[in-house]
Amino acid sequence: MHRLIPLSLTLATLATMGCIRPDGAKKTLPGKELFAACASCHGDTGVGEATIAAPNIAGLPAWYVESQLVKYRSGIRGAHPEDLEGLRMRPMSRQMMDEGEVKAVAAYVASLTPVKSAPSLKDADAAAGAGAYAVCLACHGDKGQGNQALNAPPLVGQYDWYLVNQLKKFKGGVRGANPLDVTGGQMRPMSMTLADEQAMKNVVAHISTFSR
Ligand code: HEC
Ligand code: HEC
Repeated sequence: MHRLIPLSLTLATLATMGCIRPDGAKKTLPGKELFAACASCHGDTGVGEATIAAPNIAGLPAWYVESQLVKYRSGIRGAHPEDLEGLRMRPMSRQMMDEGEVKAVAAYVASLTPVKSAPSLKDADAAAGAGAYAVCLACHGDKGQGNQALNAPPLVGQYDWYLVNQLKKFKGGVRGANPLDVTGGQMRPMSMTLADEQAMKNVVAHISTFSR
């Protein structure tokens, strides 16, 4: 762990300097190096860390990771005053200097081996959630695999507590309510089909039965 600290400091310094090489050219760091700044929360393998609410991002498709980093950077996601976890993620997305580096780190995240998160919900009814998932299926797929053509991310393998939290954020307007958030705006009305937190837990428990 301690070896990560000097590297992140180096990254921070490079960021402040705009990463200018002695010859004056701007250098794009490789995704793996950039990911050192992410590993402190998401882990070296990208599987996340429940105690700090960092989601499992290992193997998420590059198009989705990139889209979310772009949103965090511009404040379309993670800037709402009630978005405690998003506010934690947002400064990290701003460390990256240019579009090329956003793409490079997204490609690295996508290359990490997907790992299924262990279920944690105690009082959820997966069978009851199966009915509610009928609404989600068209975009997220019958196995929660996602659908790039519809901008819908995979849900399979993700921590259940993270998914429930995101559904609450969508419904409460903490995520997806910014008028510039086109894809979040598509998801938001879907969260409204879930009557309460119990319904969210049930549908997420159903999602947790999926495997890749
Ligand atoms: C300080 C801790 C921290 C660091 C460092 C960090 N993140 Fe995050 N990240 C989070 C948290 C917390 C969330 C969940 C935000 C939420 O609940 O809305 C998150 C969310 C994300 C998401 C959204 C996942 C999804 O399914 O929508 C992506 C993608 C992501 N992080 C990528 C990265 C990358 C790439 C880096 C490095 C450049 C990074 N993170 C650095 C804490 C961190
Ligand atoms: C019309 C298509 C559509 C339908 C139907 C839909 N979603 Fe989504 N969903 C999306 C899109 C698009 C996003 C990505 C939003 C973004 O870019 O921030 C998303 C994001 C999510 C996320 C956040 C994932 C993450 O990694 O942060 C969750 C959780 C989610 N959807 C659950 C559901 C559930 C549960 C249902 C059914 C009740 C559902 N969705 C129905 C399109 C849809």
